[in-house]
Amino acid sequence: MDIARHEPPGHSLRVLFATSELFPLAKTGGLGDAAAALPAALSALGVDVRAILPGYVSALDTVRGKRTLARLSTGGTLLLGRTPDSFLPVYLLDWPELFRRPGGPYQDAEKRDWPDNLRRFAAFSAAAARLALHGDGEAWQPDLVHANDWHTGLLAAFLALHAGPRPPSLFTIHNLAYQGNFPLPEARALGLPEALLVPDGAEFYGQFSCLKAGIRYADRLTTVSPTYAREILTPEFGAGMDGLLRARAADLVGILNGIDTALWDPAHDPALPAPFDADHPAGKRLAKEALRHELGLDPAADGPLVVGVNRLTEQKMADVVLTALPALLDEGAQVVVHGEGDPGLEAAFRAAAVGRETRLAVRIGYREELAHRLNAAADLALTPARFEPCGLTTMYAMRYGALPVTRPVGGLGDTVTDIDTANPTRAEGTGFTFAEPSAAALAGCVRRAGRLFRDPVAWRRAQRAAMRRDFGWEVSARRYLALYGDLVAPAVQTAPRLRVLAAAAEPSVPTAPPLRLEAAA
Ligand code: ADP
Ligand code: GLC
Repeated sequence: MDIARHEPPGHSLRVLFATSELFPLAKTGGLGDAAAALPAALSALGVDVRAILPGYVSALDTVRGKRTLARLSTGGTLLLGRTPDSFLPVYLLDWPELFRRPGGPYQDAEKRDWPDNLRRFAAFSAAAARLALHGDGEAWQPDLVHANDWHTGLLAAFLALHAGPRPPSLFTIHNLAYQGNFPLPEARALGLPEALLVPDGAEFYGQFSCLKAGIRYADRLTTVSPTYAREILTPEFGAGMDGLLRARAADLVGILNGIDTALWDPAHDPALPAPFDADHPAGKRLAKEALRHELGLDPAADGPLVVGVNRLTEQKMADVVLTALPALLDEGAQVVVHGEGDPGLEAAFRAAAVGRETRLAVRIGYREELAHRLNAAADLALTPARFEPCGLTTMYAMRYGALPVTRPVGGLGDTVTDIDTANPTRAEGTGFTFAEPSAAALAGCVRRAGRLFRDPVAWRRAQRAAMRRDFGWEVSARRYLALYGDLVAPAVQTAPRLRVLAAAAEPSVPTAPPLRLEAAA
């Protein structure tokens, strides 16, 4: 089969977007949101983008119109379907033994990492590499591969180590703290190439690091905000990868994530009791009333409603929020915490609410609709972080008129402008920032916000400024498109499509038996 011959010349750029999360198929955090919205924005710019995702139960259940493309000899099957809302084409690697499990993408229901995560994501990366090198068997083959986070780090490596022509790769770091590090012997036992098992490969302080593989082998690197792109070159934010990142600094650029402004739109959000926008805020008051009723909070309290919707982790300073709770409540704030994460923190937040139910509501768990309602109801959004690659939650909050209380690190520094509370009439601020990652500084910041809250005119001005900020994807999607163009232009000269396709018969992803994937005849 020589599909290339039948193609019109100058087809639109084909991008394979490899990700382990994509809302609403799978999501544990912002990666799922970004991986849904960026491809949609690229499609709108004329890019022929398709995603590839592990065949989790949730993904198999949610994807529309799925059909089988190819059986893979090791038991996996390549499916093709579309996302329910944006109709983005999505390949799923259906491999029941590896991905059809109860629990999350990375952990079981008890929040223990799946013990075979290296095998799972090496297999996923190998499948994506095969698709990139040999096409899907149905006339689609990418000109470029865009991989995301450690789960797809090996994809960049497999492509780079491939002996023949191959599409160029871009690797986006959404969070340097999640590295996919595993014992080296496990990598060797899986048959990963020896070239990867050494310090110049993906060896990382005695372990095997999937994230390092992505950073080391991708042709170009991006991360999700300009500030984080600079921060990660330093030991403080580099999570041990800063040396390697400095070596690759010329290939690294920070492109701020956008948000899906249709999905996160208080004027058209089915999760809310009434619509609202910057000029028609009445619906926001209704959202607050309804939420207080729903959660059993005092309906007559006159302090700000402070909401935290975040993973309960050290990154999000959940420990500091916990310590600051009494001070926030003493200030007259009503507080809602909705999240999941560290089991110790989950228990501590639950315990903190006992006896204070009219002032403090803690809802451990992960509910997408509740997150929308909380942003709509909130006066203030607690989104502090020790580090933050981008921070979508903070942008959602601003769009819903909840002013963030946060630290100016990473993407937060690029998206939140501190309100000059001493001079609120002149200020163009959209939130409140504090420097020290301490409970005292957090509480002080909420106190400062509380003063502005008691000045309704100044508050409305700030709220309007926050709601009017443009956080759409278009500008950033164009930056990705320009980057794709840079990468593909030279590759097209050196790797003509016909030669890539001619190599399709021979399995050339460098993997050992457990990972060898044969496209079905
Ligand atoms: P991160 O990806 O580091 O978790 P982001 O702020 O970029 O941070 O993205 C977090 C995403 O996860 C947002 O879409 C946020 O609404 C969502 N989220 C976090 N916790 C919860 C929760 N408990 N329930 C529903 N959505 C949540
Ligand atoms: C990561 C980061 C977060 C970012 C998201 C999407 O999970 O922690 O800051 O917004 O990825 O890129």
